[in-house]
Amino acid sequence: MRRKVIAGNWKMNKNPMDTAKFMEAFPELVKDTSDEVVLCVPYIDLFKAMEMAAGTNVKIGAQNVHYEEKGAYTGEVSVTMLKDIGVEYVIIGHSERRQYYNETDESVNKKLKAALANGLKPIVCVGETLEQREAGITKDFVTTQVRLALEGLSNKEVAKTIIAYEPIWAIGTGKTASAQDANEVCVWVREEIRNLFGDVAEEVIIQYGGSVKSSNAAELFGMSDIDGGLVGGASLDPEEFSKIVNYNK
Ligand code: PGA
Repeated sequence: MRRKVIAGNWKMNKNPMDTAKFMEAFPELVKDTSDEVVLCVPYIDLFKAMEMAAGTNVKIGAQNVHYEEKGAYTGEVSVTMLKDIGVEYVIIGHSERRQYYNETDESVNKKLKAALANGLKPIVCVGETLEQREAGITKDFVTTQVRLALEGLSNKEVAKTIIAYEPIWAIGTGKTASAQDANEVCVWVREEIRNLFGDVAEEVIIQYGGSVKSSNAAELFGMSDIDGGLVGGASLDPEEFSKIVNYNK
């Protein structure tokens, strides 16, 4: 039985003071869940979030990382830097980074390898555009993204990699993929991993992301191959995000 991982992605929202306010309320609201709860926050909020998450079941993650250990990369943060301060998770290849910051399948693969080599738990995002969905190439596009992201990984590393299937047309738009459509793609992702790496595919956590909210979480997370979610907008409010985490209560 795969454990569900429900992760918030704050994107470019909240400063350390907002983070403190959120963390005063949130951990108490989700303390009874047996699922994994993660908050991926802006770099400047990591310290505050980790300090206030200490002793709770809330895990903290970053939203991006560089694949080199150190060096002349102005504005970047490395995997070792995150690891050294105790960050546990990192989002890699979010569609917004692919779209606006030149993230490629190749850089995603490098970042994934660096994260795994340093014991960070990666959440790798994949997903098609509306045009691709309408052209009927979702399966081909998404499974190719998965294959290129996982290239060169060992089975053990694959088992530690979380995939977030996020159809781009559903992100921040209020349009959620139907639970059946979302699950269908998650099944394709798992099949592709099985073709490439074998039975370890059964262990891989595959999340759905894209306008997840408390009103649709139970249906989405109840599907056979959806192992939790990556939640943007609805993770900014502690009450709303806690309802998503407690979807089965
Ligand atoms: P959303 O974002 O929940 O606001 O649609 C999800 C994401 O981009 O991770």
